[in-house]
Amino acid sequence: MKRTRILGTGFYVPEKVVTNDDLAKMMATSDEWITQRTGIKERRYVSEGVGASDLAFEASRMAIQNAGLTVKEIDFIILGTLSPDYTFPGSAVLLQDKLGASTIGALDIRNQCSGFIYGLSIADQFIRTGVYKHILLVGTEVHSTGIEFADRGRDVTVIFGDGAGAVVLGPVEDKERGILSTHLHSEGKYAKKLWIEAPGSIYHPRMTQEMLESGAWFPKMDGKYVFKHAVTRMQEVIEEGLQANHLKPQDIALLVPHQANMRINQMVSMAMEIPEEKVYHNIQRYGNTTAASIPIALHEALQEGKVQEGDIVVLAAFGSGFTWASAVIRW
Ligand code: ACO
Repeated sequence: MKRTRILGTGFYVPEKVVTNDDLAKMMATSDEWITQRTGIKERRYVSEGVGASDLAFEASRMAIQNAGLTVKEIDFIILGTLSPDYTFPGSAVLLQDKLGASTIGALDIRNQCSGFIYGLSIADQFIRTGVYKHILLVGTEVHSTGIEFADRGRDVTVIFGDGAGAVVLGPVEDKERGILSTHLHSEGKYAKKLWIEAPGSIYHPRMTQEMLESGAWFPKMDGKYVFKHAVTRMQEVIEEGLQANHLKPQDIALLVPHQANMRINQMVSMAMEIPEEKVYHNIQRYGNTTAASIPIALHEALQEGKVQEGDIVVLAAFGSGFTWASAVIRW
């Protein structure tokens, strides 16, 4: 059986930069608090009328071009987001239309911060079994239209940013290269530790004036609880991926973790004795872009020449669900 390789990457972030000082004008927070607790200095926000599929479109165009392909050669689209343009249909079909792709399949997945690695795993199965040759996988988020710019909610608001990252995947004959494994996990009993409560199909009706006024449509997070689980689960799932491939932490050339909080990633890498220079961070500039954060970071790491052919690259994520996942790739 063939393996799956990343043929090209792309990203897009909106032009508007929002600094910690900008947020401090809207809520009781400070550059010092945000920097110390999270490592974030600034993030990007979309302008009015721009949705998750628009960011996905720009990132996808770049990824397809960098793969040396045209839209006609893409056989399937997978899109991960927790912030779709509309409740339904999903944003994958909107992306299919914006790209001018033919009537290929377009799948939306909802696995929050782990969405990109879940999507990578799905794409890997389709490519290795020969069902599809080229798959476009995108993570995209517009958080800025759904967070609370007030003291209540500031814990979540300061960490989120908008952006999209994309990869094009295809087969590789060399069995030593490409995606070596993916490992996916979930623990739904913690669904309400990081969630948006409303609108939802369990309510009659789905949305009420009271929900609007109470802020039930903003994300809520038990930050300390999420933090602790993230540190433990990310270590576990990286270890699981390494063991499955008879590798050790010292074999990792680059770890590209989800960018939720720089302190989470520092604690994971310290515990696993992975040197700081082998861990990629760009949370300073973009905040947490959820499903988009790993593909954006991967794209920038490649642009900066941090990955050479034959290197072991490990991706790892933890987020709402809870969901967590890892991927081990030989570049
Ligand atoms: N500015 C200033 N003060 C704040 C802010 C803010 N933005 N937010 C909270 N505080 C205050 C709190 O009110 C609290 O005050 P108190 O001590 O007077 O009660 C104090 O700061 C400490 O609050 P904590 O929530 O305990 O702060 P913590 O150190 O845990 O940091 C943070 C909060 C940064 C959110 C952290 O918990 C975190 O990063 N959690 C994990 C996030 C994550 O990984 N999410 C998963 C991915 S996202 C996804 O899946 C969609």
